[in-house]
Amino acid sequence: MPPTQRNDNTGHPRDLTIKMRSSLLSAIALTASGAAQITFQNSSTTILQTDPGTYGPEIEEYHYYYTQWPIGLAISSTGRFFATYTRGSYAYTLGEVVNKTAEVPYPSASLNLPVSQLNTSWNGIPFGSNNSTGLISVQALYITPENARRPETLWVVDTGRPTITDGSGAPSMPYAQPGGPKILGISLSNDTIYATYTFPASVHFPDSYMNDIRFDLRPGTTSSGGGVAYIVDSSDEGRPGFIVLDLGTGESWRRLTQHPSTLRVDRDVPSYQGVPFYQRTIGQPIQTLREGLDGIQISPDGETVYYSPLTSDYLYSIPTANLLTPPSDPLAELTAANNVTNLGQRGGNANGFEGDSNGLVYQCMPEHNAIYVYDPQTKMTEPFVRDPRIIWPDGASVGEDGYLYMNINQLPRQPNWNEGVDGRVFPGAVLRVKLPGGGGKITSLA
Ligand SMILES: *[C@@H]1O[C@H](CO)[C@@H](O)[C@H](O)[C@H]1NC(C)=O
Ligand SMILES: *[C@@H]1O[C@H](CO)[C@@H](O)[C@H](O)[C@H]1NC(C)=O
Ligand SMILES: *[C@@H]1O[C@H](CO)[C@@H](O)[C@H](O)[C@H]1NC(C)=O
Ligand SMILES: *[C@@H]1O[C@H](CO)[C@@H](O)[C@H](O)[C@H]1NC(C)=O
Ligand SMILES: *[C@@H]1O[C@H](CO)[C@@H](O)[C@H](O)[C@H]1NC(C)=O
Ligand SMILES: *[C@@H]1O[C@H](CO)[C@@H](O)[C@H](O)[C@H]1NC(C)=O
Ligand SMILES: *[C@@H]1O[C@H](CO)[C@@H](O)[C@H](O)[C@H]1NC(C)=O
Repeated sequence: MPPTQRNDNTGHPRDLTIKMRSSLLSAIALTASGAAQITFQNSSTTILQTDPGTYGPEIEEYHYYYTQWPIGLAISSTGRFFATYTRGSYAYTLGEVVNKTAEVPYPSASLNLPVSQLNTSWNGIPFGSNNSTGLISVQALYITPENARRPETLWVVDTGRPTITDGSGAPSMPYAQPGGPKILGISLSNDTIYATYTFPASVHFPDSYMNDIRFDLRPGTTSSGGGVAYIVDSSDEGRPGFIVLDLGTGESWRRLTQHPSTLRVDRDVPSYQGVPFYQRTIGQPIQTLREGLDGIQISPDGETVYYSPLTSDYLYSIPTANLLTPPSDPLAELTAANNVTNLGQRGGNANGFEGDSNGLVYQCMPEHNAIYVYDPQTKMTEPFVRDPRIIWPDGASVGEDGYLYMNINQLPRQPNWNEGVDGRVFPGAVLRVKLPGGGGKITSLA
């Protein structure tokens, strides 16, 4: 997919000024000695070539968020649109879009635990709630198509780990208790929760964080016939890996925990809008982003899972056969580790993944305001779409309408990463872009 070029003026002085502290600004002014233009603002005054900032197909502004900053999203076969918002202080954590500028709690407001009940403590150690029926903090969504055995289903990943803030404004994330972290299946035919899966503490560790999920619902995939879910555990505390869930039996197990391909990269410093990023959190020393295994996508034939830690430039894959092997096989972990493929660098960090019926693997690229795409045929990561409005693409969802929808949430400007200062400006957005080559939602694994 060769990029198409446009000549838009892409100067973003405001982005820079918002992010930069006054000390930084004065340092830059000193370096520049006032002689040259510091920020590029008006392309019509230069004879030089400039970075157009954009390529790829046209982007539509599909939805605006005005009240809560979103994380996850999913679109149904009939165009119903769902979004998640991690908590914190928000009143609700799962919503349905009702018009261009608003969402409402889904499936109901009362399903959300009150903010005062999100966390508890034991012997001075903070824990998330153990409530297995109410919603605590929902991170990810995925919609599977209707099949002979189940309705079209909205799958909900509740991490059970809210962010709590103490009296000094210092945010932290309490440990999970069994019960709180859960996967819910909601029928989109009757808007009712019809399946709930929780995890033992040996599978979902207290410091686990379920970040995203993909499914293979074909009856032959596991002996139970109920299908399987592949979940990524991004554990900022450093124990990331895969969680595999047999939807027929409810049994779950881990795979590739702390394998190098799942670990965050030590002291990785990405650049957002051209500014090197360090995490500045009240109550903690300055640090670098710590997130492990984050992006996940399954191939349309169900044979391969693609994945990557957030703070890594490498893309990896593992045969699903190695994830499906039950832990009763004494060689399950060693053979899995030996079967990881390093697909090489892709040109930057990535967070959320999505995939289409053509087998392409779309990757959200927050450093580049872009979506890149790995093509298993060419073995290369290629450009798909880039646009200055893509300020942290946090997740993507392919609809049966052949569009890729992405959440834009300005995450690097959030107060928890900026000494308590919120540099985000509403609205957040859902942008959508038509997929190339007639690509659509993967329906082959239903
Ligand atoms: C850019 O510079 C040109 C030439 O000085 C001027 O006519 C134009 O108004 C400027 N545009 C903006 C957006 O400042
Ligand atoms: C969108 O929905 C919200 C919530 O129901 C409502 O308050 C608002 O008036 C609606 N806006 C438009 C333009 O219909
Ligand atoms: C779990 O939370 C839900 C929603 O707040 C509530 O209705 C339910 O009673 C809670 N369950 C327990 C055991 O506290
Ligand atoms: C929940 O966390 C907040 C912030 O640290 C704390 O003030 C509160 O006491 C905690 N709640 C419980 C029930 O432990
Ligand atoms: C769940 O948490 C509540 C409130 O902290 C506690 O009373 C209850 O014993 C816990 N249940 C289990 C099964 O641990
Ligand atoms: C909703 O649909 C699910 C899945 O088909 C079914 O198990 C459940 O009984 C239905 N619930 C209601 C209230 O209709
Ligand atoms: C490695 O993966 C291939 C599929 O790519 C599979 O056929 C093979 O059994 C796996 N090897 C081991 C030792 O698990």
